[in-house]
Amino acid sequence: MWEPRGQRVVITGASSGIGAATALEFARLGAIVGLVARREAELGEVLAACRQHSPESAKFVADLADLDGIPALAERISTELGPIDVLVNNAGVPKRRTAATLTLADAAEVMRINYFSPVALTIAVLPSMRERGAGHVVNISSMGAHMVAFGVGAYSASKAALEMFTESMYVELAGSGVHAHVVVPGTTSSEFSTPKDGNDPPFPSDPATTASPETVAAAIVASLSDERFVTYATERDAATAAAKNADPNAFLDSMRQRLSGMRR
Ligand SMILES: NC(=O)c1ccc[n+]([C@@H]2O[C@H](COP(=O)([O-])OP(=O)(O)OC[C@H]3O[C@@H](n4cnc5c(N)ncnc54)[C@H](OP(=O)(O)O)[C@@H]3O)[C@@H](O)[C@H]2O)c1
Repeated sequence: MWEPRGQRVVITGASSGIGAATALEFARLGAIVGLVARREAELGEVLAACRQHSPESAKFVADLADLDGIPALAERISTELGPIDVLVNNAGVPKRRTAATLTLADAAEVMRINYFSPVALTIAVLPSMRERGAGHVVNISSMGAHMVAFGVGAYSASKAALEMFTESMYVELAGSGVHAHVVVPGTTSSEFSTPKDGNDPPFPSDPATTASPETVAAAIVASLSDERFVTYATERDAATAAAKNADPNAFLDSMRQRLSGMRR
């Protein structure tokens, strides 16, 4: 069982949504949290809530699209907060664009935030974790990488890349005391599914199948006590991924039929 008290947990994308809820949950459990995002005011509000439980917590305003700045950011965090015990790579952006309208710049932008920045941060913190023989890297993926990438192919590809990178670490780090995890949320209520520049309009979401950020935060915390590679945020997400994995051709064919039926 992972013991949160006194652990230094860094959460990227902590200014809203899943990251904010996760930071608060870790702080509530007694962890010292380091919050990373661009929006200073929002980050400050989340930090104030976290400090009610964990006064040593701190915020680090940074644009993770600046990949060259990531080693210095990691250095700044471990100098101010202490050695990082847990890194939760949660910051992410959508890319709602069909292949017919996607540009290469769109694809590169989403890869930069959703794939290269977590990889860069992981590379920056891993040597210290390996030296100490202890640590956790939790990478937040998406059901987009597990079911139908309709209208979000470049986004889903960025998450699939992140999952394969993490899968490789999971195996490579076996026995080292350092653990790699993937947590897979399905549709979650947050700013993610709001209109955004460079994106097609968000899909209408069904409240009955939309998780709360707190549900995903609980799954992220729980993943640290679980030796398994992947944690789905809800049972429903796990069942959908299992259905696709059991027979990808049949699963995708039935989705195509449903979609072409809707177009008629
Ligand atoms: N919501 C969903 O339906 C859903 C489903 C599956 C997976 N996910 C994944 O869950 C994660 C969190 O998303 P969310 O739903 O909580 O959305 P959100 O509320 O929009 O949060 C995204 C977070 O990422 C940060 N971020 C974005 N670009 C950044 C950059 N260049 N530098 C630093 N921070 C950056 C944002 O902070 P600033 O804007 O302040 O920088 C914000 O804190 C993402 O990785 C997303 O792909 C979400």
